[in-house]
Amino acid sequence: MSTSPFDFTGRHLFVAGGSSGINFGIAQAFARAGARVSLISRSADKVATAAAQLQALGIEALGIAADVRQPEAVERALGEAHGRFGPIDVLVSGAAGNFLAHALDMSPNAFKTVVDIDLLGSFNVARLAHAHLRKPGASIIQISAGQSFTPTPYQAHVCAAKAGVDMLTRVLAAEWGAEGIRINSIVPGPIADTEGIRRLAPTQQTLDDMALRVPLKRMGRVEDIARMALFLASDWGAYITGALIPVDGGLALTGPRDFSAAAAASSKAHA
Ligand code: COA
Ligand code: NAP
Repeated sequence: MSTSPFDFTGRHLFVAGGSSGINFGIAQAFARAGARVSLISRSADKVATAAAQLQALGIEALGIAADVRQPEAVERALGEAHGRFGPIDVLVSGAAGNFLAHALDMSPNAFKTVVDIDLLGSFNVARLAHAHLRKPGASIIQISAGQSFTPTPYQAHVCAAKAGVDMLTRVLAAEWGAEGIRINSIVPGPIADTEGIRRLAPTQQTLDDMALRVPLKRMGRVEDIARMALFLASDWGAYITGALIPVDGGLALTGPRDFSAAAAASSKAHA
């Protein structure tokens, strides 16, 4: 009999936006801990490749193409995943989009696109997953961002969307707690070798500047986030709900960042 609180053998993990980066790293960590894993993302190729990578390690995994902005697609994916692996024990919701742009250079559709993916997408995923969650016992983990706390120039869309995600976390924790469902937000700092950081720090200079701003003087690693997810989903997190937990080396203590140099570098790419 296992005594580890981090043994997820036979548990079902469902990850929205799970085909790459931090979210896929979380999926890999749970898979190593014994979980069966369902992943969704927009790109059929990307999500199939990610699932195949887990299957190659002997893990039961499913990859389904679904855009979190499309409730019917999310519902279909949840139904398929539930049919295959049973009720969802751990739901990680981390689909997101980002680019650097001054608010005045953002069309209404540019702003809406990020709000739709990050905020409406998180609502769609949580609301539609509710019917498929193990009750009592399920743990929902939203992947937020420091922009939720820190007013950040060139990030009006992400700041608004992630602040909404975090408020959604708190509201659903209050609404769904009586059913034995916990929901928390992890608020990552800058995580090395991810698409998110490539967009915010597109040059070596901007990367170095960002690492120096972090009180712990290093970029985060995907495992830093995955370990917090394992903790929150485990029995050790059993009395934690509605919490917004920075895993950011202390970056949230340092105030607004200056993305003007990074924005200038990336706007050349978008032009
Ligand atoms: N600056 C200003 N506006 C931008 C932009 C930029 N760098 N990049 C995209 N936009 C605008 C587009 O011009 C469009 O607005 P318009 O219709 O008024 O012209 C709007 O945003 C939507 O762009 P589109 O490419 O159609 O959206 P999409 O749904 O195909 O893709 C994105 C969503 C834009 C967020 C895309 O970057 C993406 O797919 N990101 C996922 C990966 C990612 O961002 N990872 C990091 C997560 S933190
Ligand atoms: P990433 O690799 O681009 O991850 C985003 C994932 O979401 C991808 O799997 C992408 O796959 C999927 N996705 C995007 N739009 C989607 C949609 N409409 N529907 C379904 N899936 C969608 O980026 P990342 O940097 O690892 O970011 C992961 C999470 O961490 C995000 O929530 C981000 O805000 C957060 N975060 C990241 C950092 C960082 O330093 N990287 C810091 C703070 C917070 P498809 O392209 O196939 O859809």
